Amino acid sequence: MKPRILVTREVFDEVLDFLSESLEVDANQSDVALTPESLRERLAEKDGVVCALTDRIDAAVLAAAPNLRAVCNIAVGYNNIDVSACSARGIVVTNTPGVLDETTADLVWALMLATARRLTEAETYLRNGEWQGWYLKQLLGTDVHHATLGILGMGRIGQVIARRALGFEMNVLYCNRSRLPQDIESRLGARYVAMDELLAQSDFLVLQVPYSPATHHLIGTAELARMKRTAILVNAARGGVVDDAALFEALNNRTIAAAGLDVFENEPKFDPRFLSLKNVVLAPHIGSSTRVTRLAMAMTAARNMVAALTGGLPPNIVNPR
Ligand code: DGY
Repeated sequence: MKPRILVTREVFDEVLDFLSESLEVDANQSDVALTPESLRERLAEKDGVVCALTDRIDAAVLAAAPNLRAVCNIAVGYNNIDVSACSARGIVVTNTPGVLDETTADLVWALMLATARRLTEAETYLRNGEWQGWYLKQLLGTDVHHATLGILGMGRIGQVIARRALGFEMNVLYCNRSRLPQDIESRLGARYVAMDELLAQSDFLVLQVPYSPATHHLIGTAELARMKRTAILVNAARGGVVDDAALFEALNNRTIAAAGLDVFENEPKFDPRFLSLKNVVLAPHIGSSTRVTRLAMAMTAARNMVAALTGGLPPNIVNPR
């Protein structure tokens, strides 16, 4: 008998076809997230789950799935999964590193450029019929070229963001748990600095750290106060890394100039006060959302699952034993 798995959200047909070659697949095709109850119910007899960052795989879910052997997330971040509880049960957890770096970096750049050049505000102005003609001081923005880009979290995606900055001739600073090898620093033209210097010097501060208890509210009132009044903050990493209430105050009081946000605390809910601000560009967690990349992510998760349940070694285990 083939091992049985649940795919919690709609995926591409080719992914289901691939999974079905070696596994018995129960797929939620509606793309409405399963409720915790129905997730528990449908996992009762399953050996594996291909899940999304919207599914909480916690102790209660694991308790309802006594046969579970593999949890394969369609995301590089895996803060939706209780990894320690999985490890304690010998359950393999995998993610999808690498395949979304370039696409996510593109979106970070889109947010940097859109906030700097006030694109959302400009389009709204035009759509509202307010445009009476060109004038010298119209919608004055901020230059991206030759500015200082600060990257907090210099993993794969952070490095791709830095590489794009070479074309804009930016001064790149970064802060990371560990310093990059010198050849990578030289190639990216990036300088390693302490958090205080990063906050104080950056014209654009891009967050690229995973969410965990250690990074919860890493950027709050105190950190925002240390930034330049002209600075722009971009977060396409995870909600919760920024204290959104503190960020609202900083944007509203112009303690910093603007923000580009693709992720929020408690998303899809977000602080509705952001909607009242002109100096914020908002997106609904679309960092990796191109067809090619989302297919690659789902296929990576599928390959991880097939390997995990057919005796192979999944390439992207996050809890090696
Ligand atoms: C990830 O892979 O963690 C992204 O947030 C998904 O878009």
